[in-house]
Amino acid sequence: MTATLIDGKAIAATLRASVAARAALLAYRPGLVVVLVGEDAASTVYVRNKERSATAAGFDSRTIRLATETTQAALLAVIRSLNDDEAIDGILVQLPLPGHIATDAIIRAIDPAKDVDGFHPENVAALALGNPRLVPCTPRGVMLLLAASGIQISGSRAVVLGRSNIVGRPMAGLLLTADATVTIAHSRTRDLPAECRRADILIAAVGRPAMVEGAWVRQGATVIDVGINRTAEGALIGDVDFNAVRTVAGAITPVPGGVGPMTIACLLDNTLIAAAARRAKLSGAANA
Ligand code: GUN
Repeated sequence: MTATLIDGKAIAATLRASVAARAALLAYRPGLVVVLVGEDAASTVYVRNKERSATAAGFDSRTIRLATETTQAALLAVIRSLNDDEAIDGILVQLPLPGHIATDAIIRAIDPAKDVDGFHPENVAALALGNPRLVPCTPRGVMLLLAASGIQISGSRAVVLGRSNIVGRPMAGLLLTADATVTIAHSRTRDLPAECRRADILIAAVGRPAMVEGAWVRQGATVIDVGINRTAEGALIGDVDFNAVRTVAGAITPVPGGVGPMTIACLLDNTLIAAAARRAKLSGAANA
């Protein structure tokens, strides 16, 4: 058996086109600000891609680049001014932040209505309570890939490998909300291969190159690879041993071209969702 390839690039392009078409119908330009502190090489590339995609979708796209030594107080002041700026619908602070800044304090300072990353505790709680509002972009992208590929989630056994706040935990919440039976497996899980073999849907989000072997995957399972790892030779590879697993799985995402492109497309979509909700509330208040 050779797995069906899930073409994230094509699915993301369709979503980006849909965002651009919906944005063009609005009486305003959705405003998205990305804040980058420091010069981390990977973050610099991501931020440039986000800026380009937002501009291409017709957004008012801004990037604020701050020096590595920016203080926490100065960053908080930037966020407060963005919270107060009526033209801004979405605020994303690129992670990781330099070590002297408390990530938690920064995330809490973002207006939850503009939190297009879905990282603010209010948005995390909404997802945990089964009533998602703004949802983290990468797990939301995975859900859209599964839907676009016709993968049945309700009643399935899903195993999420990894428990990060950015992917693993929100991923588990979304799958549970979609009626999967969800296991979160991680570095301390006993017999990881056996746990993974139970999965109808296996999501790998650990950041360990080619960790998931063919023998970890049940025949016909759907395997979603969230990992993006750079090899010593400079190639990008996922958390899944693609060549081994594709002979066992029923469907699989490649790296690159799988989950990666969905993250930015979902960021744009989240910005539209945030804009519609916040601006409806504003105009409701004005008309009250
Ligand atoms: N760094 C890696 N992934 C992400 C993400 O989804 N959002 C933010 N803000 N930073 C990240």
